[in-house]
Amino acid sequence: MKKENVIERYSKVFPKAARVTYAPIVGVRAKNAKVWDIEGREYIDFLADAAVQNVGHNNDRVVKSVLDQAQRLLHFTFIYGFPVEPLLLAEKLVEISPIESAKVILGLSGSDANDGAIKFVRAYTKKRTILSYLGSYYGATYGAMSVTGLDFEVRSIVGELSDVHYIPYPNCYRCPFGKEPKSCRLACIDYIKIKFEEEVYADGIAALFAEPIQGDAGMIVPPENYFKKLKRILDEHGILLVVDEIQSGLGRTGRWFAIEHFGVTPDIITLAKPLGGGLPVSAIIGREDIMESLPPLGHAFTMSGNPVTSKAALAVIEEIEERNLLKRAEKLGTYTIKRLEEMKEEHELIGDVRGKGLMIGIDLVKDRETKERAYAETKKVVWRAYELGLILAFLHGNVLRIEPPLTIEKDVLDEGLDKLEQAISDVEDGKVDDKVLINVQGW
Ligand SMILES: Cc1ncc(COP(=O)(O)O)c(C=O)c1O
Repeated sequence: MKKENVIERYSKVFPKAARVTYAPIVGVRAKNAKVWDIEGREYIDFLADAAVQNVGHNNDRVVKSVLDQAQRLLHFTFIYGFPVEPLLLAEKLVEISPIESAKVILGLSGSDANDGAIKFVRAYTKKRTILSYLGSYYGATYGAMSVTGLDFEVRSIVGELSDVHYIPYPNCYRCPFGKEPKSCRLACIDYIKIKFEEEVYADGIAALFAEPIQGDAGMIVPPENYFKKLKRILDEHGILLVVDEIQSGLGRTGRWFAIEHFGVTPDIITLAKPLGGGLPVSAIIGREDIMESLPPLGHAFTMSGNPVTSKAALAVIEEIEERNLLKRAEKLGTYTIKRLEEMKEEHELIGDVRGKGLMIGIDLVKDRETKERAYAETKKVVWRAYELGLILAFLHGNVLRIEPPLTIEKDVLDEGLDKLEQAISDVEDGKVDDKVLINVQGW
């Protein structure tokens, strides 16, 4: 099959709602941080397959576990029977989670985990209102979509869950309150108090949904004390804290869970993306009393707790533990941020570099003073990177997403960073034509 033929056939059978395109790569094989396309071209994957491949593409341990398990038992439904593999996975998740006496629900995607979390917090507190963040992304199912704080277009067409309110995320580079980090005194925290006085009845809120680092909004890292101060307010009003670790979890930021950087313990954690090492599996990990608040089958799927995906997830966790990937993510992250900061010295297009571990964003701007987002230039950088053999994507239209596998070899990381710098230089030097803009859709 030819690449052009595959791409053309895609648009005939898949509706646009199912996808978003950055670069026309027909991937056929992958190993660790490299992907090969149908024409045999090699790419370095700085996207880690949308933050899925924390332990690398086609990780040997994961592949072996999947093959072994597939030969013994593909499926034996967890909701009626007692397969062993989901039990081992749930026990392991409880062990690594910061939540004491937790219980676990397994699912298939980040979206269904967040839907479940909405049900649990409403059932437990017997309150309906959910507080969420502008710019947040929780998924595409009805519940997850309804608490998401970006892309309101779909909801305006199809409708949404009611009783959801939003607050601005603490964004020190583009402060929604026009403040500077040194003198702001956390105006974003004060705003919550105003919200409670003037718009939402605080004691009627079931939970706040938060990403510990806001991913799709453009890799926004909150100030160090933010979550501690926030948690005090939540506790005053009996509001639960649900933390979405779907992108930031399982070692991505140098901790099992990114919330651990901020010194608070959430009531519920949702996990997916990297958990299955490329297979669909999600988890809701929550306080036992909360997780016992729904009746039998209150949140269950025929295919959840699948033995093969559970074994894959166990292999992912073992790989992180045995190869000490938390430390590695931290070390490579510090190194990458240092190199990107050096690039910032040379390239005016780079307005800000931020992140933790290997969850990094590069905010591209037209002007460092005004911080105007460089939308067209960002698309061009992504396209040029593709031409140079580097898989890149962007968020919020202008933030390059640097999330390679935690297992990426140091020399491959360097090669990828060199290609990235080349792409930025080429765009700054006007070497990338406007014509490429229609090739890159992104969001
Ligand atoms: C933070 C976050 N939450 C939830 C989701 C939804 O996960 P999924 O696409 O597996 O349903 C995503 C996916 O991008 C995400 O980044």
